[in-house]
Amino acid sequence: MSTQVIRPARNFQGSVTLPGDKSISHRYAMLAGLAEGTTRLSNFSTGADPHSSLACMAALGAQITHTGHGPARVIEITGTAGSFIQPEHPLDCGNSGSTMRMLAGLIAPHPHHFTLIGDHSLTLRPMERIRKPLAAMGAEIHLTGGDGAQGGHAPITINGGPLTAIDFDTPIPSAQVKTAVLFAGLQANGTTSLSESVRTRDHSEHALRAFGANLYRNGDRLSIPGHQKLRAIDATVPGDLSSAAFFLCAALLFPDSNLILDSIGMNPTRASLLDVITALGGKIKILNVEEHHGELIGTIQVTTVPGGFKGMEIAGALSAQIIDELPVLAAIAPYTRDGITIRDAKELRVKESDRIALVAQNLKAMGATLTEHEDGLTIPGGQQLHGAAIDSGTDHRIAMAFSIAALRATGDTEIHGAEAAAISFPEFFSHLDELSQR
Ligand code: S3P
Repeated sequence: MSTQVIRPARNFQGSVTLPGDKSISHRYAMLAGLAEGTTRLSNFSTGADPHSSLACMAALGAQITHTGHGPARVIEITGTAGSFIQPEHPLDCGNSGSTMRMLAGLIAPHPHHFTLIGDHSLTLRPMERIRKPLAAMGAEIHLTGGDGAQGGHAPITINGGPLTAIDFDTPIPSAQVKTAVLFAGLQANGTTSLSESVRTRDHSEHALRAFGANLYRNGDRLSIPGHQKLRAIDATVPGDLSSAAFFLCAALLFPDSNLILDSIGMNPTRASLLDVITALGGKIKILNVEEHHGELIGTIQVTTVPGGFKGMEIAGALSAQIIDELPVLAAIAPYTRDGITIRDAKELRVKESDRIALVAQNLKAMGATLTEHEDGLTIPGGQQLHGAAIDSGTDHRIAMAFSIAALRATGDTEIHGAEAAAISFPEFFSHLDELSQR
């Protein structure tokens, strides 16, 4: 385990370009592995999670080569033209829930025996949510355990074979579950349709269309005909808005910040974060917006003014839409004027860690007063935090969230398990150091 010491900063200023979006990288890697031809991806995520997806694609028969360095880095994936091979070993999804859940849907229609495994944290995470729809499509899929409230978990075994389309209503807002069903539906007999209780991120819909698939929306229902073939694409992955969130929140902590983030993904199903930053008092300008394969990309500038750091309540659909950004918003909440309340975010308890419990524990270690709810946190504003020993719980977003809270604490903060940041954002600590004025 590595420890990073974060010293308080005076201000937060500068300009950075961030590596590619984790969610989009997973989807491009998987669809490229299934497609016919060679896909070329620039600005692929540097995080360990999407590289777990790439490694699984290689085990399933895709050929992967890395060329160039830095901004010229390109990943080429020659796909299997619709026919995965029998992998020689279990498919190792590492720490990545996205890999495990989306891959299960992608491979279930293939006539092989698959075992999906992951690290300790991933093995604790609920998988019943994907087992149920895939089993309803006819997949022979088995989880481990299953007595707990959340049902079974990894290792998952799948005896793949032909699937039949279903009409599915997603009970929990989860883009990973939606994607598992879409990826299976793409290869099933008949037309699969689904509706979501809350509209979650739609990267899979854009990615499927980019690779040539036909899918359509009728009111609240999304439909995908089966037996479709995909063809390779050339694409640049937009910068990761969920990584940008840490620096946008850091900017809010100081009265005279000026931060520019280049080429960031601004898909509307992710961009409510920018409304939250504005509601909290940041002044946001969006420049140079372009569209690539259905994804919006733009440059974000955020500035702040003295006395402008307000508070807010985050609940309902908004909580689901910014679920990955809630830990860092909670970590900066004590410094707001009016506090931040987060509700309807029970899903946070089944992420890479129990993020509600771990945020509460670490905020208290830094001297904050707060109330923990089953589905969120109430964190009063106007509190000065002090440096403390932080436990990342090997959760990347917790390690990074508390590195941001540390910038305005009195004294130094030690982030234990800081190496977890590399799951989504290996460059985090070096960029943090460049942008923090001391
Ligand atoms: C993701 C969906 C969300 C999110 C995760 C990435 C995706 O998970 O928390 O980091 O890429 O589809 P859920 O589907 O579990 O909500």
